[in-house]
Amino acid sequence: MIRKFRIGNPIPTDSVVKEIPVTQDNLPYFEKNDEAKVLTFSLNKEDKVYGLGETVRGMNKRGWLYTSNNSDDPNHTENKHSLYASQNFFVVFSNARQFGVYVDTPGKVSFDIGYTSYDKLSISFEDFDADIYNVEGEGVMDIVSQFRGIIGRSYIPPKWAFGFGQSRWSYMTADEVREVADKYQEAGIPLDMIYLDIDYMERYKDFTIDENSFPEFPKFVEEMKARGIHLVPIIDAGVKNEDGYDVYEEGVEKDYFVKKENGENLVAAVWPGKVHFPDFLNDEARAWFGNKYKVLMDQGIDGFWNDMNEPAIFYTEDHLNEVFEKLDDYKGKNLDIKSFFEFKDLVGSIDNYPEDYKRFYHDYKGMKIRHDKVHNLFGYNMTRAAGEAFEKLSPDKRILMFSRSSYIGMHRYGGIWHGDNQSWWSHLLLNIQQMPAVNMCGFLYTGADIGGFGSDTTEDLLLRWTAFGIFTPLFRNHSAMGTRRQELYRFDAVDVFKNFVRLRYALIPYLYSEFMKAALGDKMLFKPLCFEYKDERSAQVEDQLLLGESIMLAPVYTQNASGRYVYLPEDMKLVRFHAFDDYDEEVMSAGDHYVKAELNEILVFVRKGRVLPLAKPENGINTKDSDMSFICYEADPDSYELYTDDGISRI
Ligand code: GLC
Repeated sequence: MIRKFRIGNPIPTDSVVKEIPVTQDNLPYFEKNDEAKVLTFSLNKEDKVYGLGETVRGMNKRGWLYTSNNSDDPNHTENKHSLYASQNFFVVFSNARQFGVYVDTPGKVSFDIGYTSYDKLSISFEDFDADIYNVEGEGVMDIVSQFRGIIGRSYIPPKWAFGFGQSRWSYMTADEVREVADKYQEAGIPLDMIYLDIDYMERYKDFTIDENSFPEFPKFVEEMKARGIHLVPIIDAGVKNEDGYDVYEEGVEKDYFVKKENGENLVAAVWPGKVHFPDFLNDEARAWFGNKYKVLMDQGIDGFWNDMNEPAIFYTEDHLNEVFEKLDDYKGKNLDIKSFFEFKDLVGSIDNYPEDYKRFYHDYKGMKIRHDKVHNLFGYNMTRAAGEAFEKLSPDKRILMFSRSSYIGMHRYGGIWHGDNQSWWSHLLLNIQQMPAVNMCGFLYTGADIGGFGSDTTEDLLLRWTAFGIFTPLFRNHSAMGTRRQELYRFDAVDVFKNFVRLRYALIPYLYSEFMKAALGDKMLFKPLCFEYKDERSAQVEDQLLLGESIMLAPVYTQNASGRYVYLPEDMKLVRFHAFDDYDEEVMSAGDHYVKAELNEILVFVRKGRVLPLAKPENGINTKDSDMSFICYEADPDSYELYTDDGISRI
């Protein structure tokens, strides 16, 4: 049962697609403090809180303060409160009670989950205007499914998007891309996608191609497709200000960019220098921008990633002027404790400056709304622009799309990647822990930058991360400019990587079937153990996952470990893969075990009465899976329901 309560006069977000009337009942569980703009309730000692999507820290969110305020912050450390996403759905549960809460409000909102006081959960609002949905059900899975039922079906990518993708900021020329494809081919590692980062564009202008470094682009796209590789270009939120650039000129002429109070287009800066931001919240501007993807689709492109759409702002022209003016005050001064830090703050305040988000306005549903009031909807509507356009531009075929910034609702139009992580062991764990939380909020096609985006990766980290990444729907190795190159063929362990990636391809029938069942049935693909096992120990486990109906994962995420402790909530069959066709099986009893896992091994635990199908891996994703075999633990292989379709037609 889902009830909707209204506080104040909320700005609609279009995240919920099912009509639910507002009830006049009192909001259950919460005490409401209008003056403080806070909702509070008491947590019991046993209560666990799961959800909130792509955030910092562990699976059980209790013990920290999370703020929904989409932020371009590449340091996903424990002290942070906000990342790129606002996914305001969570479930509170213990054996005694369970309920879900969705806080639908497009502005800043904070969830103090036992942070200020361990036995209190409070939600504080900048504007006390929100629709609060209360979800009651038979257990946590039922609550999640009901919630998913009201926000609409999750985005389904083409099947080839379940292949392996290689990315780098940036492959600078077509020849460099060819070299990546060649090297993967030589190494015998399947590859379905190569990502094009910002340097494929002409001076960082969306929907353009640098003709010098990527000559005859449509031919190049075709050539790569003939090799089974889809090129996936990035699209950024900011539109370069440059005379003669059609997207800029049309946007100015038609008034499709966000405006300052005085009616002038906001001038901000990102990669190309000065840009305007399209007003994605405006229906007409959204349709206009969405239609621009056609420029690349006409050249054979069938997948995209949307970036910098929090939006990230290097500076606004206005704030930069303010800073330059104030800098003079400090010239030639003996900077002391106070003035030095003021000066440092002034210079450090230039990018993603909070006040800049109050300088511009949207024309949203006939209202002029200051950006900060609807900040968390920006990336969502950029991706919606693409998604809505794809329905018209490609009515038959699915298009790959994922975004950095998100809000619930966007899950209908695209997936997400988990932003600019680092080549840190702790970020491998964070990747593991974020998976179920984003699934709860409808985001199924997701994955993190494998190997880590920032910092230099190491072979062992990349091995362990790839060993986990083979299970995530978006399976992409990506890294930042200036960091160690991390294409898999560059490492001594290239043959181990080959076995891992080929195992991924062998798992496709399972991963795709479970993904489709989750998408079509409003289910989760990744679950914490305690979503299915009711024992108290399962609720303590923060580093193992159930994936689909058949298997449990216990990834190794620490340096120099040759194994780990694994908790088995019931008897399971451990399958120790060295390759898709080289594995050992061992039935293990419920309880705690220390399990060996060398760097060249991937562990999969098959649940009792369940089946894990495997196919013979090919060099790319096939619509038909061939040479199927089945690993069963006290189960009949026929009991597994494979999902098959052509992998490309819209559903
Ligand atoms: C942002 C993206 C990253 C990309 C870079 C350059 O940092 O998150 O993935 O490589 O911009 O486009």
